[in-house]
Amino acid sequence: MPGTKIKILVTRRLPPNVEARLDRDYQAALNSDDRVYASAEIIAAADGYDGILCCSTEKFSADVISRLPESVKILATLSVGYEHIDVPAAKKRGLEVTNTPDVLTDATADIAMLCLLAAARRGSEGDRLVRTDQWKGWHTTMMLGTHMTGKRLGILGMGRIGRAVAQRGRGFGMRIHYYNRSRLDEELEQGATFHETPESLLAVSEFFSINAPSSAETQKFLNAERIALLPDGAVVANTARGNMVDDDALVAALQSGKVAAAGLDVFDGEPSIHPGYRALDNVFLLPHLGSATHETRDAMGFCCLDNLDAFFSGKPCPTPLT
Ligand code: DGY
Repeated sequence: MPGTKIKILVTRRLPPNVEARLDRDYQAALNSDDRVYASAEIIAAADGYDGILCCSTEKFSADVISRLPESVKILATLSVGYEHIDVPAAKKRGLEVTNTPDVLTDATADIAMLCLLAAARRGSEGDRLVRTDQWKGWHTTMMLGTHMTGKRLGILGMGRIGRAVAQRGRGFGMRIHYYNRSRLDEELEQGATFHETPESLLAVSEFFSINAPSSAETQKFLNAERIALLPDGAVVANTARGNMVDDDALVAALQSGKVAAAGLDVFDGEPSIHPGYRALDNVFLLPHLGSATHETRDAMGFCCLDNLDAFFSGKPCPTPLT
């Protein structure tokens, strides 16, 4: 029917500017109270909808994908990570899947630096000291941390975000080392030292930042054996996905001082976290803030909408996964 709008099911609350554009251009079912829907609810609610705009908080396993109504033709996730979607299963069903790369690179790299810096310089511990009125005044050996300048920063995963972390690390006078599935060309490498194996990278990483995508192979990547390879007193940051760290092993290493400090923005099973972290002073904890700036979240939402616009006009999606 002419004038009938395409119907989009939106699984989470979106920034106001994004919801306004959605509302203007589509018949959108918005999630105004932002409750995380169960898969069965999404499947039922999607009946008659042409597309779904989701986030990384909803899982689209092969089973869920197989039970989505036939009307659904596209799944646009407001995230760069897509481990919550079984992309091969989507492809098999003929479902277009898109994500939001590029637009969150800088915001996420900033948070990686915040994690490294706050961990190394005891940011949350210092904040607590002042806040609880425990600070008794400046002295020369008070709350000494780990110096960043001149140190080796090892980056696991030298995609867009890893390279943006490298750029910031250079600004801090750090020496950049990295592991990536394939070596970057010289122009992208910008003098960084490539390691053939993650183990070789770990052995030199006075600072270690996880920026690789989560996959079956990277589950619990940072386990006790790999932590043992780090230089004593290393500082670790994770801004990728929580399931890439073995929490028992990292908590033990933070307790023993093998790892001097960690800055973590993501957690296995978040929002619940390993209770060991809460009891430690040498860990800086953030609630998955990697892409959480006004500008970035708008850009991520608009990227989803650009994909939907292209798809429903019969054009190639700007950032497809399938
Ligand atoms: C991403 O884009 O993957 C962020 O972590 C939000 O899910």
